[in-house]
Amino acid sequence: MGMTFDQDFIFGTATASYQIEGGVHEGGRGRSIWDTFSHTPGKVVDGDTGDVACDHYHRWEEDLDILADLGVDAYRLSIAWPRIQPDGVGTPNQAGIDFYSRLIDGLLARDIKPLVTLYHWDLPQALEDKGGWLNRDTAYRFADYANIMGRALADRVPLWATLNEPWCAAMLGYVSGEHAPGRRSPEAGLIASHHLNLAHGLGVQALRDETSGKLGIVVNYHQFNPVDDSPEAISAVERLDAVGNWIYTDPILRGEYNPLTLDVTRSVSSWGFIHDGDLDLIHQPIDFVGHNYYAPTYIAGGHGPAAAGSPWVGVADVSFLPPRQPVSDMGWAIEPAGLTRLLTGFSQRYPGIDLIMAENGAAMPDVVADDGSIHDADRTYYIQSHISAIADAIAAGAPVKGYFVWSLLDNFEWAFGYSKRFGIIRVDYTTLARTWKDSARWYQQFLVNRTI
Ligand code: FCB
Repeated sequence: MGMTFDQDFIFGTATASYQIEGGVHEGGRGRSIWDTFSHTPGKVVDGDTGDVACDHYHRWEEDLDILADLGVDAYRLSIAWPRIQPDGVGTPNQAGIDFYSRLIDGLLARDIKPLVTLYHWDLPQALEDKGGWLNRDTAYRFADYANIMGRALADRVPLWATLNEPWCAAMLGYVSGEHAPGRRSPEAGLIASHHLNLAHGLGVQALRDETSGKLGIVVNYHQFNPVDDSPEAISAVERLDAVGNWIYTDPILRGEYNPLTLDVTRSVSSWGFIHDGDLDLIHQPIDFVGHNYYAPTYIAGGHGPAAAGSPWVGVADVSFLPPRQPVSDMGWAIEPAGLTRLLTGFSQRYPGIDLIMAENGAAMPDVVADDGSIHDADRTYYIQSHISAIADAIAAGAPVKGYFVWSLLDNFEWAFGYSKRFGIIRVDYTTLARTWKDSARWYQQFLVNRTI
């Protein structure tokens, strides 16, 4: 307790295009894999879709005013690739560029730094029709799109992330099928992972040509813990790290796939999809790694083969322990110390790279009181205790430079639709009215002194 964050540390909130924008048929936007997936019966709770979402496409000025009132230094948003290239290729759609250009100008006018994520999972459906992330060409199409955005926004954007959570895009999208495009093949997850890594590297090159902004990637580096110091539990964690974490961060930050990643997945794939020179392309110098953290996971050595559809490709003989109490409305354990372990552990494994907490927050079962207020003390505690955990990580030497609350607004929570609320601002999905929750008021107060 008692640490004050310095003025260079950036505090913000985060959102993503498909989760908040709506306006799916407007401004020449093309279809994305999430439009297709959410409109497929049985894929999303209650059949929810992002068609309207928070209607941010029309209400963005109101949302930027909320950010200004909160007093944040920065805002993390993502760009919907199908607004820029409706079919994923060719000449950019000017209406799409104009939308984001106005948004960026609106942020800068309010003295808020944009952190722009280029790919937060809404792949143009036309590219999926050609194989999506199983098609190597998609990585090159991503580089073209990155170059278009670099040219359009150039030096107005100080922070860029190529991809959000490649593990989710590859393993939930192509192995377990819980996310778009909903395929179920273990080898597909490895191929998609490699092509996402390649897209990152090519995207960094394409952005460097156009902008002097800082470049990075956002990962969900799972915080695995062995339940005890038995060799079985330790081996289980190492193998999960290999296929859940290092599969992205080793090629990106070290220029190699870890031998354990290749070893664990050998029965699934020969990795013949790696071309000569790919690792050099992937291993571009970057300025930061963004981390999304929600909960830790405890692992024991287990018995038997991996469950069918398990996203942990090639990893059998492990058990995921039930989450420890207390849990959020997602059923995820609330353990701030896990965030300290994540940041210190990561900076020891990959020294010399700045870290940004690109997402952290909690879905909670909010109750609207008779007077319309939302006393979300549980969410406030979550955010406060995790900011404290970052202070601990910094004190232990981790170079953490920013923190973004997930999320500014309640929004479309992927396969959970609108049933889970992560916002510090409530969205009434009938009227689309925004209401400040107590957690937003707490964050606003905290940002005045930045002392935890
Ligand atoms: C992350 C996603 C983000 C949000 C949070 C709860 O995996 O990046 O879009 O859904 O989880």
